[in-house]
Amino acid sequence: MKLWAGRTGGDVDERLSAINNSIGFDSRMYKQDITGSIAHARMLGRVGVIEKEDAEKIVEGLKGILEDIDSGKLEIDMTCEDIHTFVEGTLTERIGDAGKRLHTARSRNDQVALDIRMYLADAIDRLIGLAKVLTAAFCDVAEQHLETVMPGYTHLQRAQPITLAHWLMAYAQMLLRDIERLNDCKKRTLVLPLGSGALAGTTYPLDREYVAEQLGFNGISLNSLDGVSDRDFALELLSDLSILMVHLSRFSEEICLWCSWEFKFVTLADQFSTGSSIMPQKKNPDITELVRGKTGRVLGDLTTLLTAMKALPLAYNKDMQEDKEALFDAIDTAELSLEVLAPMLRTATFHPANMKKAAAGGFINATDCADYMVRKGIPFRDAYKVTGQLVKYCIDRGLTLDELPLAEYREFSLVFDEDVYEAIDLLTCVSQRRLPGGPAPEAVKATIEATRSKL
Ligand code: ARG
Repeated sequence: MKLWAGRTGGDVDERLSAINNSIGFDSRMYKQDITGSIAHARMLGRVGVIEKEDAEKIVEGLKGILEDIDSGKLEIDMTCEDIHTFVEGTLTERIGDAGKRLHTARSRNDQVALDIRMYLADAIDRLIGLAKVLTAAFCDVAEQHLETVMPGYTHLQRAQPITLAHWLMAYAQMLLRDIERLNDCKKRTLVLPLGSGALAGTTYPLDREYVAEQLGFNGISLNSLDGVSDRDFALELLSDLSILMVHLSRFSEEICLWCSWEFKFVTLADQFSTGSSIMPQKKNPDITELVRGKTGRVLGDLTTLLTAMKALPLAYNKDMQEDKEALFDAIDTAELSLEVLAPMLRTATFHPANMKKAAAGGFINATDCADYMVRKGIPFRDAYKVTGQLVKYCIDRGLTLDELPLAEYREFSLVFDEDVYEAIDLLTCVSQRRLPGGPAPEAVKATIEATRSKL
């Protein structure tokens, strides 16, 4: 029998239940549902909409239900329509008539909007915590590789020398912004919809501010239609998580690439690697492939909710029940991804020698060679051209710029001297780029410090 049996009999076809019931996924909001109801009941008692004694009975009853679910003493009945129905039904079973007064001046429309906001705010806290752990791992590993020279790439072609530390700290900066976005999203999530009723507010003299205060919300919604029917805070979280996952996915893609024999810049620890059932030699980076793959789910979750919302007339429509599975999936996926990457990174072994070899091979010091000529008075455009010819000359002879004898340099330009070798040494090239944000060891050190202080 349904909570809303009255106008209809409430004895519904099981196929309706199959599509209508949400307890299969909204049961995970039991804590938020109960906590929100406690705040609502306290307020109802305080403003005199219900008797003080009834309010107290309700609060005690709800606390008992929360405790019993937490401890496993009370099992959530999965045949109920939703978590709201289950909690209210159980309360009335336990405390009798007072329980029937809990839903005064409230609709499941403002109730579910409250629950989901509370759930998301909690999830945001967890996500920020995990993102900080991963950012700290980036900082710690970077600190060990301030002088580990590697090629920086554009178009996946060796471009200019950087360090492993510099590369790692790029991802740390992305995560810092992800954390900022999540913090910002939380501000707009913690706006209280309760008091919006089904759509048109309520005739009871509720104290909405008091409820907001009890629940740690920043304020109350100022339009009842908007309060029950917008999910922009949820879309914002899904957008933030999509961006976060795209960052993790790019990082994962590079790790996959680096694990290949062609690169061999990194080897993952055995406990974070997988094997093949047929090829005995295989050691696979499934972990980063999966983070990369799971990113698609989160982008899909964002699309799911955007699509569900895009043509909904005001105010509440049942389509909006579809928000939860998308949100929960995105949150679970992002949490899991953040959680696995931190220990994967900390236990990975990077191979500086292979990075150095790759760095030495791609003429990535050509820009520095041109800059050397500029320092000797040659206009950059001319220096660029001469260096290009030098590179071609070296490629034809199977040499690197470092190996080319000075006499041959001087056939291209008389500005070249012994000191050119020092100028194009890879570590010199990196160390010269010491502006804030550059790859020079001291600049990266400053970035690590600044990043740590933000954690
Ligand atoms: N399970 C519903 C949801 O998630 C709760 C709100 C139900 N409201 C209603 N008018 N049937 O959106």
